[in-house]
Amino acid sequence: MDCLQEWPEPVVHVQALSDSALTTIPDLYIKPPSERPSSDKGVATPHIPVIDLGGLAEGAAECRATICAVADACCSWGFFQVVNHGVSPDLVRKVREVWRDFFRLPMAEKQAYANNPRTYEGYGSRVGVEKGAILDWGDYFYLHLLPESIKNQDKWPALPSSCRQTVQEYGDEMVKLCGTLMKVLSISLGLDVDQLQAAFGGDDVGACLRVNYYPRCPQPELTLGLSPHSDPGGLTALLADDCVKGLQVRRGDDWVTVQPVAGAFIVNIGDQIQILSNAKYKSVEHRVTVNAAQERLSLAFFYNPRSDWPIAPVGQLVTPQRPPLYQATTFDEYRMHVRKNGPTGKTQVESLKAI
Ligand code: OGA
Ligand code: NI
Repeated sequence: MDCLQEWPEPVVHVQALSDSALTTIPDLYIKPPSERPSSDKGVATPHIPVIDLGGLAEGAAECRATICAVADACCSWGFFQVVNHGVSPDLVRKVREVWRDFFRLPMAEKQAYANNPRTYEGYGSRVGVEKGAILDWGDYFYLHLLPESIKNQDKWPALPSSCRQTVQEYGDEMVKLCGTLMKVLSISLGLDVDQLQAAFGGDDVGACLRVNYYPRCPQPELTLGLSPHSDPGGLTALLADDCVKGLQVRRGDDWVTVQPVAGAFIVNIGDQIQILSNAKYKSVEHRVTVNAAQERLSLAFFYNPRSDWPIAPVGQLVTPQRPPLYQATTFDEYRMHVRKNGPTGKTQVESLKAI
């Protein structure tokens, strides 16, 4: 598609702005007042559920309890944290370290991986090609891990020297973890254990990593690191910064700040599971705030359906009382919207309603 050939304006990396020690942020990053992060109300906020996946390897009762906890979390939050997930803490430490080191490289080194709006692969800052859009205060590196046919390690950072191998090992572990979560979600929806995976198109799933880097911001009350959006894909497992908070999840009219549990992944339902589950589970909007004192790094791992596979509500979840809410679409078609328009809350999945 022509409009996705190039960025509409030269890309400015937020890190370069932040490093130039500005005391005010450029107008391009200033959100309208209604979209700015509200200051903390000072009231105790609820927390997204924390689920111990260790229960899956124990007896039938523990396994059942874990599946019920996932079902509750998906219905009430669309988000939960998982602990005892089996991904090695050493690997988690290493992957954070390689990405911190990557973002510390000189700009020219990183620019060698500059991305374009056709595939988004590489080092970038904006999402969406709308000219004159208000931008988010964040840079990122985006890469494909699956399917193998589009994975291209030459597009992954060659520096630091352990980056490619560490990312591959991390990706392999995350694919395994997401495979487990898919089984749990499938059962929790009342489906057979492998049915959700089959509805994703079987083994030819997609997997991508978006490493988000949110530099320090002199006026964090005027902007966001990432605007409200639901994740377009299937399932997201986020490795949040181990020190700095920033992710907020929508709950009614409020934004709840997630308190990451040490060693946990933050899991959330994407739009494709909302569609497949006929909205039994909904993708939930989230956003990221930034702060003046500390930079923040997060790794969002996206587990997606096979990209050319039609995604529509699963037969068993369609009843006379609950007719199909969405028309079939492929993920390739679906994600064009985000690539063109950037983060737009939940407008895309809402626009897919069956007529
Ligand atoms: C994302 C995302 C949250 C974060 O990359 O889609 O929601 O905390 N990231 O960076
Ligand atoms: Ni997201």
